[in-house]
Amino acid sequence: MASAELIKKLEETIENIPDFPIPGIQFKDISPIFLDPKLYEDVIADLAAFSKGKVDAVCGIESRGYLFGIAIAVALEVPFILIRKAGKLPPPIISEKYDLEYGSAEIETREGQIKKGQRILIHDDLLATGGTTEAAAKLVEKQGAIVSQFSFLIGLKGLNGDERLKKFGADVYHILEY
Ligand code: PRP
Ligand code: MG
Repeated sequence: MASAELIKKLEETIENIPDFPIPGIQFKDISPIFLDPKLYEDVIADLAAFSKGKVDAVCGIESRGYLFGIAIAVALEVPFILIRKAGKLPPPIISEKYDLEYGSAEIETREGQIKKGQRILIHDDLLATGGTTEAAAKLVEKQGAIVSQFSFLIGLKGLNGDERLKKFGADVYHILEY
C-alpha cells in the first residue's frame, strides 16, 4: 500500500545500529522519523489508510506503539486505548501474561475502555517474535472485542511473528519488512 517513495525515504531515515542492545542484534532506531514532520505525516496517512472504515478503536502497545498509534486513532476519529506494561495503570485493570526468551512479562488495559463487539486495530512499531502483539490480542479478546487488524511500521522476517498472529484471523500490515 505504501508508495515506493515512502518506503525508500523510511529506509534512508531509520538507523540500523549493530550489536544493540546485545551482540548480534541489529537495532532499528525509528527516532529520526520524528525529526521530519512531513515524513511522520506521510507514515500516519499510510497507516490510517489501511484501517479507514474498518475499526472502531485503536489499541497501542507501550511505549513505541504510542508514537504512531495515537495519531492513527486521531486520523481515523476513533478512540485510542493504552496497553501498558504491568504496574502503571490504576485499577480496575485487565491483564495478560506472556513469555519472553528469558522469564515473562505482563501487559494491562483499564477495564471498560475496550467495548464488547468493537473492531480493534492493534498497533505497534515493530513485529519481531509476535509475543507482545499476541498478548495484546488476547487482552482484547478477553474483553469481548474483535481483533480486526494489526499494523506495524516494521515487520522482521524470519522470527515467525506473522505466523503467530494468524490464529486471530485479522489483516496484518507493515510498511517495511527486514
Ligand atoms: C519492542 C517493540 C515491540 C516488541 C516487539 O518493544 O517496540 O513492542 O519489542 O517484539 P516481539 O514481537 O518479539 O514481542 P520493547 O519491549 O523493547 O519496548 P518499548 O516499545 O517500550 O521500547
Ligand atoms: Mg514496544
